[in-house]
Amino acid sequence: MSKIYVIHENDAWVEPLRAAFEELGLPYAEWFLSEGTLDLSEAPPEGVFYNRMSASSHTRDHRYAAELTGGVLAWLEAHGRRVVNDSRALSLEISKIAQYAELSKHGIKTPRTIAAVGRKHIVEAARRMPGSFITKHNRAGKGLGVKLFHTVSALEEHVAGPAFEDSVDGITLIQEYIRAPEPFITRVEFVGGEFLYAVRVDTTLGFELCPADVCEIGDAFCPVGEGDVLRQAQDDRSGNPRFRIVKDFGHPVVERYKQLIADNGIGIAGIEFIEDAAGEIYTYDINTNTNYNGAAEAEAGQYGMRAIARYLGEELARLGRRKLRAA
Ligand SMILES: Nc1ncnc2c1ncn2[C@@H]1O[C@H](COP(=O)(O)OP(=O)(O)O)[C@@H](O)[C@H]1O
Ligand SMILES: [Mg+2]
Repeated sequence: MSKIYVIHENDAWVEPLRAAFEELGLPYAEWFLSEGTLDLSEAPPEGVFYNRMSASSHTRDHRYAAELTGGVLAWLEAHGRRVVNDSRALSLEISKIAQYAELSKHGIKTPRTIAAVGRKHIVEAARRMPGSFITKHNRAGKGLGVKLFHTVSALEEHVAGPAFEDSVDGITLIQEYIRAPEPFITRVEFVGGEFLYAVRVDTTLGFELCPADVCEIGDAFCPVGEGDVLRQAQDDRSGNPRFRIVKDFGHPVVERYKQLIADNGIGIAGIEFIEDAAGEIYTYDINTNTNYNGAAEAEAGQYGMRAIARYLGEELARLGRRKLRAA
């Protein structure tokens, strides 16, 4: 029987999706891709494949999960299988350079960015930035390598020191720092290529902003590290939720995002932007592996994983109808 296959490498992030599949009674299976084999003489099973491979998979000891997924997606696509978030989506997931190139192509403003390989070149790139800048990894997720600098000498000291960590692909991005008048970013969620909701994320406490509940509670599964425990405590003191769904979000950039994801084999994604004091918005992150915040969703009565399950269920039904017609 035809099924929904979920390709991923993090069990904790799939839990809410499993619950949504069960609720709807949808047939599904998981492909946990970290290590394993791919026999190219075989044909893939029938079904709808949802790729949730994450750019930060290497930080969970799954160093080659993204590479293996790239191979699996090529194989699925060569066999004409329906893939939601296909190989083009994966190429964007694992490279912010690719994201920014695609955003610009779609007329979407990004912060000025220079990519650099090698410590000397990282510093040289920073000299070309007119003001404060941040560093980040080209292959990132969960805020890897994100650091704010106000001077080139501070960066020079950092890259020469023991705390400097290279991106897993060796590419560091030097990026114009966008100062938001209020400390928040906006993440726009899409499911089935359609706008789902926008969520405001408070950035007072740092750059690691994974919305997954497993990340927010700072338990053993949390992929964002020790700092999270501290942040959680501070959250409790302020009493303000870090994630809040914006009820009537209607920015014109949504149409551009929709076109971009449609052009890149992406059905499900969360896209992040910052607004500066002049009201200009800068888009800087496309997450094809997106997670949702439980408390914010309960407050708003909107549920991303349910929307994903429903969408994948519809895709599976569509596949079934196509097969019937062909028979
Ligand atoms: N150019 C920028 N100016 C100001 N803040 C930024 C900028 N880029 C990233 N940040 C902050 O750092 C966080 C993580 O950066 P992001 O590019 O989303 O990396 P990741 O893919 O690791 O999530 C953002 O959510 C935002 O709060
Ligand atoms: Mg991000």
